[in-house]
Formats: sequence, structure tokens, C-alpha cells
Amino acid sequence: MAVKFIEDKKIFRLDAGSSVYVMQVRENGYLQHLYYGESVKDDDLEYVVSYYNWTPFHPKAYDSVNNKIFSTDIQPMEYSVNGTGDFRVSALSINSVCGSNATELKYKSHKIIDGKPKLEGLPATYLNEGDKAQTLEITMTDQFSGVEVKLYYTAFDSLNVITRHSVIQNNGNESVFINRAMSTCLDFYNCEDYDIIHLYGKWAKERQIERTPLLHGITNISSKRGSSSHYHNPFVALCNKTTIEDSGNVYGVNLIYSGNFAAEAEVQADESIRLIMGINPIDFSWKLEVGQSFTTPEAVMVFSANGIGEMSRTYHKLYNKNLCRGYWKDNKRPILINNWEATYFDFDDEKLEKIAKGASELGIEMLVMDDGWFTNRIGEFGGLGDWEVDTSKLKEGLSGLCKKINALGMKFGIWFEPEMVASNTKLYAEHPDWILHVGNRTRNLDRNQMVLDLSRNEVRDYLFQKISSILSNANISYIKWDFNRNLTEVGSAALPRDRQLETFHRYVLGLYELLERLHNAYPKLLLEGCSGGGGRFDPAMLYYSPQIWTSDNTDALDRCKIQYGSSLCYPASMTSAHVSASPCHQTHRASSFETRGNVAMAGSFGYELDLNLLCEEEKEIVKKQVKQYHEFYNCIHYGDYYRLVSPFENNYCAWNFVSESKDEAIIVFVVNRDGICSRYFIKPKGLDPNKKYKDEETGKVYYGDTLMRCGIKLNKQFNDLGSILIHLKSVD
Ligand code: DGJ
Repeated sequence: MAVKFIEDKKIFRLDAGSSVYVMQVRENGYLQHLYYGESVKDDDLEYVVSYYNWTPFHPKAYDSVNNKIFSTDIQPMEYSVNGTGDFRVSALSINSVCGSNATELKYKSHKIIDGKPKLEGLPATYLNEGDKAQTLEITMTDQFSGVEVKLYYTAFDSLNVITRHSVIQNNGNESVFINRAMSTCLDFYNCEDYDIIHLYGKWAKERQIERTPLLHGITNISSKRGSSSHYHNPFVALCNKTTIEDSGNVYGVNLIYSGNFAAEAEVQADESIRLIMGINPIDFSWKLEVGQSFTTPEAVMVFSANGIGEMSRTYHKLYNKNLCRGYWKDNKRPILINNWEATYFDFDDEKLEKIAKGASELGIEMLVMDDGWFTNRIGEFGGLGDWEVDTSKLKEGLSGLCKKINALGMKFGIWFEPEMVASNTKLYAEHPDWILHVGNRTRNLDRNQMVLDLSRNEVRDYLFQKISSILSNANISYIKWDFNRNLTEVGSAALPRDRQLETFHRYVLGLYELLERLHNAYPKLLLEGCSGGGGRFDPAMLYYSPQIWTSDNTDALDRCKIQYGSSLCYPASMTSAHVSASPCHQTHRASSFETRGNVAMAGSFGYELDLNLLCEEEKEIVKKQVKQYHEFYNCIHYGDYYRLVSPFENNYCAWNFVSESKDEAIIVFVVNRDGICSRYFIKPKGLDPNKKYKDEETGKVYYGDTLMRCGIKLNKQFNDLGSILIHLKSVD
């Protein structure tokens, strides 16, 4: 059983895989956190919390049963509240009846539910038939305001995964305002030093790994850009100083949310640590009328006692099986060619057909027509919003071009940026109030565009109808859903003054509603998320789009870092990666065709250049890569991923995939700038030590344990940016 309640001690114990999570209702009604980590046999862990008799500057409540002082400011609390004695970062703050933010939560009741309830209006992990999990629902109340908070914990039976969210319900007599409603709160009480790992970045440099000691005070990793953003990903992990890839404790928290988020980690002088994560409280407030409820996004907590690598693989499994949905979850996705870096805006149907024809001859399965196919699109200026086909470019319309591409035996995909509008459109002329804006304040442009107010039903209806009419016009198999700016002047003409700060979150809910509608109406449509590359690369988008364009930077070397960083919690199946031209358009760095292919193969694979311009030798390489990708597909998409050598710490890097059956492995090694060293050993991980593996290139056969312990000697002189892909197959 995943959830256990020990009645006499009022202790809750959640077992998730080999991890355990323990909390207790105290005699005074507070819900206290006792332990989270590697499984232990005892349930009664009350002894880990200490009472104090004398605690200056910590507001105290008297615990009459234990005849001791109890201060919420120094106890590990399960869902910390604001203004009533706990001065650390709080998970909840409600402005209620008297206009004060003071909030207090006491235990009321609980329920243990088999399975996992859905989250209203929000993407979340789900259970497949046969998956086992239990959910604990604990109801807490704030007597003063009448607000009730339900805390949800789902413990997965076979994975070290606990998901959390809360539902805040106004059962009082007056409306209240939620100022802060985090999805999770974790108190660490064991006086250990922790490092924090997070993924920072910017455009074309997404998800760079940074690991730093947690210092006293508050570390804040967040976004207030209206999207999860290029800058900080909604993922953090706390780990011991000694934790490395394959050993040590690590706690990952990833928020299934695409909007403003915050992770705050506070270290006190007594070395206790609190980590909270959820919707960013900055620029957020939510009016809750009597009887209404508010649901926070889901936080996915993964614990690993065997290092960071195991944490990542747990996330990958969970996201592939319990988050990604629909037809393309298990069906093989097409290898695509995207015309963006081949043509940018300068194309017409003939050019596209030529690109598609050349690609189809080399085995590519789908053409994606990127930005520029609609009216009034003059470069990066204009056009967004009307979504009408530019027949000066596509002379036989969309269906004409699509038929030609289909006739080549290829699928056809198309680019959209539905959330945006340009000022030279009919849409803007007719509905200037459909834009996010604040009264008469100037509407700031970015990439010459404004953002539609997706919190409004009529805007979503319009978009759904526009997209549907395009989809019904031609045989379209795929949409690249782009989003090329962040939100400014975030206000909605449809909301009253005291609800304006709801706009950010309502926007995200609106986006999810629209994506859900599309998902239901077009179950076989493959959606690829994008935001100027990987600016909205988060688990929530993965729920709607099984793959996401990882970065606008297609430079092989930079991609090593971006993809390595993304792998901390996101699977390769989600990580869209293309071979582009050399020198790379973003960095002007040259690299070989092999290296570009070897790097792009650690994801959902494709090309982004005019393959007609390649020499015969390069075309042969493309054919080989296409063949390899088909062969490797299952291993890459559903296998286990191991980070071997980090590009953030070395002049070369390496990773490997191992298939579920452990019969196959793919190892990729890329040199950055280490050209003169000719002796590299690469030690793969995750092989079956007792199986024999044959190197498909050299024909050499070794036991798995030999390969993992002695390594594979790379007898090759590598130039800068040289690389090698080794395919191992088990033999009898
Ligand atoms: C940004 C995307 O990341 C690119 O791949 C491309 O689709 C452009 N937008 C098109 O404007």
C-alpha cells in the first residue's frame, strides 16, 4: 500500500518506490513534516523533531499535551502559512475578512484514494491501466476565514515519485484573495549542507546546468515573463555535497506549469532548509468568492539515493509513460525536414517542393513549412493573427502544396504562432481589446508583435476556429506551435480591477484549454511546442506536445550542453533536435555532418537545411543517419539515458542510451577542443554486466562489465568537434 495512516500517532506514511515520505498531525492540529528520503522501516519518526523550552524570537504556541513550547517557526511544517508565527518562506498566504494576510492551517480530516484524481483545468501526470498509486487528501482549515485547503499527495508504487498539489476552497462567508499558493513545500530538518542544481539560460542557450551551495537566506529561481522561459526552468534539485551522477541523495522538484513560477529555498541559521515551489506569487492574486476553489499546478518530486542520473531516469520514465499522451506517445514520429534555416521567409511552393523532393529521396518523412506562409508576413513584421494563406507564395493554396508533398510520400506540417497578433491584421483592427494590455498604457512590442488575451473565451474560440479551418483545408499532420515573446502590460479588458492580477494565470489556463480542445478534436495531429526555441520547455507543454523545439541554436557543440542540461529531467523523446547547415547560422562555427547527426540523434530527430545543396558524400551520410535513427528509435525514445562526461566540466562529453531489454546501447562521444589527445576511454553505463556486447562498427565483443569498468578505447585522432557514435548489440 502506498499510503498508510498510523491512527494512534496520527502519522501518514507514503511509500513511493524505494522512497518514503512521513508527516504527522500534532496534538495542536498542525501538520508537521517528519521525513522524506530513502525508505526506512519505522513509521514513528516523531523523535526527529525537537521541542524547545526557551526560544527567543520564535513565536510560540503552548503544546499542553507535551507540556512544551511549539513554534511553527522552528518546526518542519508540511504546508507553511504566512503571518502567524512561521517567518520562513510560506506556501500559502490568504488575504481574508479583515484584509490581513495572516493565515493558519489546522488538520480537519483526510481520505486515502486509490489511483490519482485529475487536476481541474491543469495538465498533470496520470495513471495507465495497471499502474498502481494511491493519493492522500488531507483537509486543513483556517478557522478565521473559513478557507479550506486540501493537500494532495500521490505516491507512485513502482517509481520514486510523489506528486503534490493543493486545492483552496472558500467555505467562509466573504470573498478572499489568495496571494500565494504554492504546489509543494519541503522542510529539511537534518542539518545537512545541500547544493542546489538548476537550469538557467537565455535565448539560444537554454537549460545550462548550475550547481551551487545553498547559502543562508533565500535562493530564488523563478520566472515572471508569463512563460516558464529560456531563463530559468521550473526545475530544481537539492542534493548533498557528495552527491554525483551515480551516488548520493538528490531531491528533484519539477513544476507542471508553463507560466510564472518560483522555487524558493531558504536556509536558516539552524541549518534547516525549506524548499517551496509553485506559481510565482509576484504579480499574482486570485479572488476566491464564497464556494469557489482554486487548484495549484502539480509539482513532481523525485527522490534518488543513487545520484542525479537515477533521478533523471525516473523523470524520463514518468514523463514518457505518465505525462505524454495520445497517438504520438507510442507511435513512431516522422523524421522531419523544416525549411526555416533553409529559406527563412524567402520561399514559395516550388522551392518547398524541391526541398521536400530532395529530402524524400534521402528518406525524410515529413516536410514542415515554417513561418511565412500567411498574408501580410513581411519578414518578422506583421501577419500574425489572420492566418490566411498567402497565395502569392503558395500559388495552388495550402491544399495544392500539401497534395504535392503527400504525393512524394511525405507528411506535411505547418507553423503557427496562435497566441500572437500583429498590428497590420484584420484581427487587431476589429478587436484591439483582445490584446493583453493595461488601459491606455503603450502596448510594448517584441518581435513586432502583441500577445492575445487567452484568458478570454472568445479569443480562444477564434483561434480554434482559425486553426481548424486551416487543418480542414489540407492534409496536415503536424503543427509547430511557436511563441516568440514574453508578456508585458499584463491586463485583461475582460476582468474587473480586483481580478487583474489573475491575468497571468488565466492566460496559462486559457492556453491549456485551447490545446486540450485541439488535442481532442485532432487526436492524430503531432504538436511540436516551441518558444523561440526552448523558451517554454516544461512538463506542462509536454502533456500537449510530445516534442518541443529545444533551442534555436543548432550548433552541435552548444547543443551538447543544451541537451545535456535538458536531460536532467526531460526525456530525449521530448527534445527535438535537427541537423542544420555548417557553418552554423547562429554561431558561425563549422562542424562535420557526422557530428551534427550524432548530437541531433539524442532527441526527436530531423533536418533543417536544404539537402539539395549537399555533395554526394554528405547525402550518403544523411541516408546512413536516417537508417540509424530508425534502428535506434526505441532505444533513444524509450530506453535509459546515462550522462557520462559533462560538457560543462570537460573538453569533451559523452552520453549513452540503453534499451529497456539491455540488448542494445548507443554511445555518443563529442570532442570540444581537445584535439591533440588521442587516447580516450569511454565507460558506458547501464549495460547488463553479464551480457556480451558487440561493437557493430569494429566487430569486437566484450562483456558488459568489462565495457563499463575498463571502458572502450577510442583509437582515433579526433579533431575539434570530432565525434563518434558506437552501437553495441548483445550477442550470445
Ligand atoms: C522561432 C523558432 O524557434 C524558429 O524555429 C522558427 O520557427 C522561427 N521562430 C520562425 O519565426
